[in-house]
Amino acid sequence: MIKGEISKLESYSVSNIIQKGGTILRSARSKDFTTKEGRKIAYDQLQSLGIEGLVAIGGDGTFTGANIFFEEYGIPTIGAPGTIDNDLYGTDYTIGYDTAVNTALDAIDKIRDTADSHDRVFFIEVMGRDSGYIAIPCAIGGGAEIVMIPETDTSIDYVVDTLRTGWSRSKTSFIVIIAEGGEEGSATEVAAKVQTALPHMDARVTILGHVQRGGSPTAADRMLASQLGIACVEGLLTGRKNEMAGIINGELVYTPFIDTITKDKPINPEFINMVNILSS
Ligand code: F6P
Repeated sequence: MIKGEISKLESYSVSNIIQKGGTILRSARSKDFTTKEGRKIAYDQLQSLGIEGLVAIGGDGTFTGANIFFEEYGIPTIGAPGTIDNDLYGTDYTIGYDTAVNTALDAIDKIRDTADSHDRVFFIEVMGRDSGYIAIPCAIGGGAEIVMIPETDTSIDYVVDTLRTGWSRSKTSFIVIIAEGGEEGSATEVAAKVQTALPHMDARVTILGHVQRGGSPTAADRMLASQLGIACVEGLLTGRKNEMAGIINGELVYTPFIDTITKDKPINPEFINMVNILSS
């Protein structure tokens, strides 16, 4: 909007893209949109083209921007939850999350082959700046012994004790999943501390990084994106504004931006407990 890179989309504009990763819009976080001057330019561009409503795809940063834009210029916006982190109130799942988890899980399965074959401890870092939503299913589905996420305190002592106990029971390979925003630091930092305490163990670190943000979407993500894309357009056409479309318990729900920005969607503590039960 700020650069004036606006083009008319027809139905054929989106043909043959459902199976692709990334975005054809090539949009990303905008520093300029956080400024009054930037938003004024955006508004002028929309005015000159007669654009009366917006669909914003993103997370809480995107919806914060959309909310401010409405307060300043009255442009109604409906949001689609698009973030691999899934830490957004107002929807059970965000678009891209399922694909990211499956991509990470595929990599973890492959890493386990090495861990198993050569008696190693792998510290695998997955994305999730402020949340363990990606880490938890990776830990459960990947058969990890330990998961470290921002929402809970898992101390280095606990990691060392768990690995030591496993080792004493003749277990020789381990997977520790670490969400990037974890309390005890990055996977590299955690591995270094654990290696100091357990020098006989052969520790390795893998940071999955941006591989989790690409690739062909899973069936679940294609369904969700299609459902919510329609809901965004229909929402605007029926006069809704400043709400995010989401799916909760299978039902389409519109949640005010302010709630998506200010409310938390906590991880089910039962899932965290499951990692401990399954690895003990
Ligand atoms: O917010 C989604 C997310 O994937 C985070 O999990 C991660 O920390 C971040 O984006 C990385 O994004 P960037 O490469 O744009 O800094």
